[in-house]
Amino acid sequence: MKGNSTPKSITIWLTGLSGSGKTTLAQQLKADLETSNWPIINLDGDELRKGIHKDLDFSDASRKENIRRTAELSNLLNDSKISVIASLISPFEADRQFAKEIIGSDRFIEVFCDCPLSICQQRDVKGLYQQVNEGTIQQFTGISSTYEIPLNPTLHLKTAELSISACLELIKKEIDDRLL
Ligand code: ADX
Repeated sequence: MKGNSTPKSITIWLTGLSGSGKTTLAQQLKADLETSNWPIINLDGDELRKGIHKDLDFSDASRKENIRRTAELSNLLNDSKISVIASLISPFEADRQFAKEIIGSDRFIEVFCDCPLSICQQRDVKGLYQQVNEGTIQQFTGISSTYEIPLNPTLHLKTAELSISACLELIKKEIDDRLL
């Protein structure tokens, strides 16, 4: 295992369908933690894919590579005492487990943002589900590409039922418990 034994910095890994609330939670959590002068960075799937992961598509192999690179980056940042909030769909259990191995289980917090597909479709914040219906996007997670439900996440948040602040409180409590 690569991680430190003393988790002074951690990676909060948000997994879930597109539209399940990952980015909203990540941005708010970062803002909250920064008020306590935490060195923390957001690694968001959409943002990574615009730059350092530009070469990756949405095939299973690319998604695996997307998670591997993000985990390696998180590990380096955590080694440098910078905490990470990684928000990626990360649809495959084996890849999430691999991320945990790379980062170290002592500093890896897996948060399952669990929102029914029907609600993600209704929200359709980015208009992508509409494009899937129109047939312009292939291999879309939850529809034409698999999302494997996390088997043993650190936190299981029902993001359609809980408020954003309730979700944030649960994550912050987990962080506190982990750092104590
Ligand atoms: S992951 O599956 O490899 O972890 P990642 O989180 O990086 O995905 O990127 C997902 C984001 O890419 C979605 O939130 C959405 O905005 C966009 N996207 C575009 N095409 C797809 C697709 N086919 N499947 C899932 N997300 C897609």
